[in-house]
Amino acid sequence: MKIMLIGSGGREHCIAWKVKQNPEVQELYCIPGNGGMSSLGVCKSLHSLHDMVQFAKEKEIDLTLVGPEAPLALGIVDLFQSEGLAIIGPNQNAARLESSKVFAKNFMKKYKIPTAQFEVFAQPDSAITYLKSGLNFPLVIKANGLASGKGVFIVEDEEEAEDIVIELMVKKIFGDAGEQIIVEECLEGEEATIMFLFDGESYCLLPSSQDHKRVGDSDVGPNTGGMGAYSPAPLISDQLLKKIEKSIIFPFIEGIQQEKLNYRGVVYLGLMITHHSDVHVLEFNVRLGDPETQVVLPRVKNDWLDLNLALYQSSLSEIRLEVDAQNLLGVVLTSRGYPGKYEIGKKINGLEDFPNDPQGKILIFHAGTQRKDNQIVTAGGRVLNVCAFGENLKKAAYNAYLAIGKICFENMYYRQDIGYRAFLREE
Ligand code: AMP
Ligand code: GLY
Repeated sequence: MKIMLIGSGGREHCIAWKVKQNPEVQELYCIPGNGGMSSLGVCKSLHSLHDMVQFAKEKEIDLTLVGPEAPLALGIVDLFQSEGLAIIGPNQNAARLESSKVFAKNFMKKYKIPTAQFEVFAQPDSAITYLKSGLNFPLVIKANGLASGKGVFIVEDEEEAEDIVIELMVKKIFGDAGEQIIVEECLEGEEATIMFLFDGESYCLLPSSQDHKRVGDSDVGPNTGGMGAYSPAPLISDQLLKKIEKSIIFPFIEGIQQEKLNYRGVVYLGLMITHHSDVHVLEFNVRLGDPETQVVLPRVKNDWLDLNLALYQSSLSEIRLEVDAQNLLGVVLTSRGYPGKYEIGKKINGLEDFPNDPQGKILIFHAGTQRKDNQIVTAGGRVLNVCAFGENLKKAAYNAYLAIGKICFENMYYRQDIGYRAFLREE
């Protein structure tokens, strides 16, 4: 089989690694790929969806997998389907569950999926009047579109809220994403991720996980794309999972079917578990999470391509997921300065000790790396995901940090406390 995979992050390296374990995969094209993916397939930069269609036809690609949200929001699935090319993912309309927070919130309201109370505003004046009407703070203000995770603000008082409304809706710091904003209730609790495969009829739960969004230890500093993750999430008990299926996944599927949305792919639930084990959806993503994928996929024993073919053929109901009982924890190594300014082009040392053997204890997935003159150099903010198995999360963390000790590049930075909330729970 010939597979094309869109994306260049740690998530995509992990998908590529998993897909290549299927002996029927003869050719893998990573668009554009990264330094790690270059040893699994052919990496190629293509600049438009149209170029991808042409490439898929030229290479006679059997199936295309999409890592990030941007091509889905641009309508890659619509385009491939109209050309008779096999691809997994929601079409552009269904991808609004991620690309439009207003669409997602209204969907949740209509299908009674628990989420924070909210109001939508299209005019800055009405948003400001509302925010000055004696509400209880903190509140959350969200820009409507994709803003690389930066369009969400927790505001403590009326003044701060007004400033944010002006930044988003008048100065338009996130462009069109500020055409509409959401003001919502601020929920307190612990976040967790549940992803599931969905073929339009049936679903298949993937193992639970949790990530760490803030750049600094103890969750301080600015939000990032994710500094580390682990699976399973001890917070998600079997009982809680049942509740998530009943109160979120069942109505989600009903909503997709009622609205006749074209969706076959991964659904990502960003959840807030509040103190009395109440579950709320913070966000939907219409693709696998990053860095959650890097700790979830290696625990799935099923062949990843078979699962995707089942999605494509709507035969997910015939699949039983088998999951490795071991815990897996991943730490993201970044270029110092990320998520702000950082330098790239630094040689990475120590990778040769980690061959990413599917049976191995340590797995390294590349994100911002590049192969240059037969060396791997840094090429982005998030550089590597160092993932380690362990019989519990503490052991997994110990193994991951031990492995990190063998890797170095100039200005390497990483969080030292990945998993800390879970360790407290394990104790
Ligand atoms: P979102 O992109 O909507 O998931 O928001 C990004 C992050 O902002 C989430 O992962 C939470 O950490 C935080 N957040 C979003 N909505 C809320 C909310 N209603 N209450 C508390 N925190 C929130
Ligand atoms: N880890 C959060 C995301 O993938 O959006």
